[in-house]
Amino acid sequence: MPFPATRLRRLRSTPVLRDLVRETRLSPSDLVLPLFVQSGLGLTRPREPVDSMPGVDRLSISAAVEEAGAAHALGLPAVLLFGIPDHKDAAGSGAYDDDGIVQLATRAIKDAHPDLLVMTDVCLCEYTDHGHCGLLGPGGTVENDSSVELIARTAVSHARAGADVVAPSDMMDGRVGAIRAALDDEGFYDVPIVAYSAKFASAFYGPFREAAGSTPAFGDRRAYQMDPANGDEAVREALLDVGEGADVVMVKPALAYLDVIRRVKDATRMPVAAYNVSGEYAMVKAGAAAGALDERAVVLESLTSIRRAGADIIISYHAKDAALWLQT
Ligand code: PBG
Repeated sequence: MPFPATRLRRLRSTPVLRDLVRETRLSPSDLVLPLFVQSGLGLTRPREPVDSMPGVDRLSISAAVEEAGAAHALGLPAVLLFGIPDHKDAAGSGAYDDDGIVQLATRAIKDAHPDLLVMTDVCLCEYTDHGHCGLLGPGGTVENDSSVELIARTAVSHARAGADVVAPSDMMDGRVGAIRAALDDEGFYDVPIVAYSAKFASAFYGPFREAAGSTPAFGDRRAYQMDPANGDEAVREALLDVGEGADVVMVKPALAYLDVIRRVKDATRMPVAAYNVSGEYAMVKAGAAAGALDERAVVLESLTSIRRAGADIIISYHAKDAALWLQT
């Protein structure tokens, strides 16, 4: 029925009506907070600010326990751990050291907050002296199959430390299957894999690389992370990971890739995670600091848009702020 019988404004006329017909809901229970845990920080210096990410610190283990507790108290279901080791080498051995920084932090957080899910980022780039996500072969190329072995070892080491969920972010081919087999071999049948399935070679990771000290010493990640121009390929990546045993598939970054989130959701019908990355966070913070943006409104609108695109889970540095705003 055309105008004047149809008036879409009718259902927008009061807050109650708008709430009644709202299609997408955002709740603290959708949000995951990333944490950077750094070896060598301690009692005298528990936190070290990340300059390009106002409000985000690198944390000592006890500061991470405290931050995880604060996240839990705000209703966030999970944290995602990244480690910054004091020692880096060619083989990224700190990643699969049972006493590595993520392993120690996982044990400490699970001891203090057993009901909070601990997800761990599984990758070598924070642990290699060259900053790439795998082992280097001849000519400086990142070797796939030998890297996958170490990545699977890293995932098992995290599970042994008590990680509830492992999240491989390296983008090597076949790593989800290798991780699933390695976890099952050790009896970790029930540890889910959240696969960074469609991870793009993005300029939006800049602040993260400052935070984690993981900028590649040479070259870039375009030989393993995806070309930002490709959507069909993102769907293929996600379907392959589902076939290899992924329990959740992820699209990363989020805001410049909302179409990819929708396509991956429609193609897989799996739980989909989206990573609202460091550069997206830094832009909002800079805009708010300049007085150009209302931070609270922009954050809640952005996170709602990521949910509307099809994400079930959002990993975001805004998670604590958003949880607080959603309660008030
Ligand atoms: C590690 C990893 C990166 C991010 C998450 N895991 C960086 C990269 O691939 O260079 C980026 C997260 C962010 O920007 O917030 N492979």
